[in-house]
Amino acid sequence: MMIEMENLVKKFPHTNAAKQSDWKTAVAGITLSVRRGEVFGLLGPNGAGKTTIIRMLTMQTQPTSGTIRIDGRDISRDPRTVKERIGVVPQHVNFDQELTVWENMELHARLYHMDRAERTARIGALLAEMELAEVRNDNVRRLSGGMKRRLLIARALIHHPQVLFLDEPTVALDPQIRRHIWELVREIAKGGVTVLLTTHYIEEAEALCGRVSIINKGTLIDVQTPRTFCENLGAYAVEWDDADGRAYRFFHTRTEARAHAREIEESMQRVLLRPTNLEDVFIELTGRKEGL
Ligand SMILES: Nc1ncnc2c1ncn2[C@@H]1O[C@H](COP(=O)(O)OP(=O)(O)O)[C@@H](O)[C@H]1O
Ligand SMILES: [Mg+2]
Repeated sequence: MMIEMENLVKKFPHTNAAKQSDWKTAVAGITLSVRRGEVFGLLGPNGAGKTTIIRMLTMQTQPTSGTIRIDGRDISRDPRTVKERIGVVPQHVNFDQELTVWENMELHARLYHMDRAERTARIGALLAEMELAEVRNDNVRRLSGGMKRRLLIARALIHHPQVLFLDEPTVALDPQIRRHIWELVREIAKGGVTVLLTTHYIEEAEALCGRVSIINKGTLIDVQTPRTFCENLGAYAVEWDDADGRAYRFFHTRTEARAHAREIEESMQRVLLRPTNLEDVFIELTGRKEGL
């Protein structure tokens, strides 16, 4: 296993001074493993605890309790070795905006004690890979949102990490740019890097991830491949309008789904029969429709 979490818990002190005795549980005991070479997704609405999990996995905040192993090493015992093996793309852009693209990369590369020739070669290669070679001498502040996100990814890869953590890699980007980032993440994974990403976009989890964990209110609801999630619910969805709004039913066989659709049609309703998708699963499991 590349990443192992066992009974991971994070509690924060209450921000309201009157309630200081209360602690807010952001992550409520999560046990989860990610295999080497996987693209693994943490899917959940805002406030589910995704960023807190990433911050614990990447040693930016201490768990309240529980253990984390990266590539078999307990991160609390061996933080230095672990840090060399991971790359982190944070949810919020945190460059030095006064510096150029190249200078930001250079600054980061020095943290990993790469010599000059190695730095130059690596930065050049990554900027080319992330399609940023043309803006290498531009100030970071002048980059578009999509370019900044690509630069965050390039920066996280400088030291050849084995695991890449991406926290909401396409948040606030428009759909075309989002798809471009997906392609880049797929390429990185093909290169042998294990990827753990968080998202509140169901479509993103479905498009990118081999396995997806659905997280709600700090709790792990289930982990499956997108396809297994859909098959467990029923691979065939029938939807129609009834008195309470849009109605859905899921079936394991096309025959059953067709029969149900025909029944509904007999009462003169228009019916849609379609493949079940991860959005259906998410709504069934969490009772909420978010992030869309
Ligand atoms: N530093 C903090 N102090 C207090 N509460 C926090 C802190 N960071 C996160 N939280 C709370 O923990 C919960 C989970 O937050 P977060 O991990 O950011 O969720 P997500 O990334 O899934 O949107 C939220 O209720 C949030 O308000
Ligand atoms: Mg977050």
